[in-house]
Amino acid sequence: MKIKQPEQRLQSLWGQIDRQHNAQIAPGSRILDVGCGYGSLVHYLNTQGYQAQGVDLDPDSVEVAQRFFPDDPITLASAESLLPTQAGYFDAIVLKDAFHHLLGEHDALQIFGALYQLLQPQGRVVILDPNPMWLLKILRRIARHQDEEATPGQAQEVLATTGFTVKGYHYYEVCGLALSGGYVGLRLVPNWGWLNGSVASLNHGLSWMVARAGLGPTLCWRYLIYADKSS
Ligand SMILES: C[S@@+](CC[C@H](N)C(=O)[O-])C[C@H]1O[C@@H](n2cnc3c(N)ncnc32)[C@H](O)[C@@H]1O
Repeated sequence: MKIKQPEQRLQSLWGQIDRQHNAQIAPGSRILDVGCGYGSLVHYLNTQGYQAQGVDLDPDSVEVAQRFFPDDPITLASAESLLPTQAGYFDAIVLKDAFHHLLGEHDALQIFGALYQLLQPQGRVVILDPNPMWLLKILRRIARHQDEEATPGQAQEVLATTGFTVKGYHYYEVCGLALSGGYVGLRLVPNWGWLNGSVASLNHGLSWMVARAGLGPTLCWRYLIYADKSS
């Protein structure tokens, strides 16, 4: 799907919610973001002192990412083309909202086999992906938004099959995504700085409470899975 005016989206509530999602991803020091899109996670990680780089197969996304974040290393490449010239180089590989594409449109087992090689022996892979719960399905149907889906179970299966050990998972995101509209949906709140900050704080607090109450699988819009190369 062609996204209109990603700059404006990132300067509204969605930008704050996107940063909350980025902050959920706890990686190592040398990080590869696979399917980095507009590069917000690569940029976030580099501003936090990590050495992050990103790849994406979509030329339009990479062009926007390079324009937004000219100092961050973001290149046009598919996950399939990542060669083991950098074998063992990365401490962490992150996939933010990209796993469902790899599972539905590509050979996920082949890709994760290659990602395994790129990680150092204690390396970690982090998947953050849309949780295909009831509300997401209903709203996608109403909005006629078609996208691939990947359940946490499918993610864990791909990880286990390619040699990773799943170390943990949690759920996040209760209302920020729906109210901000993300990159493609309707923004439901006016773009006022104080309001964006309040909604983002509410989202963070509610996400924590809902996850603590065990309601993440049914109410949260995102899941995160951490898996290590070592057992
Ligand atoms: C939903 S977007 C998420 C982008 C970004 N990670 C974010 O969170 O904003 C999924 C991205 O994965 C990329 N992608 C899908 N399959 C890929 C592949 N095999 N190799 C590299 N990138 C891929 C797409 O081009 C797209 O930019």
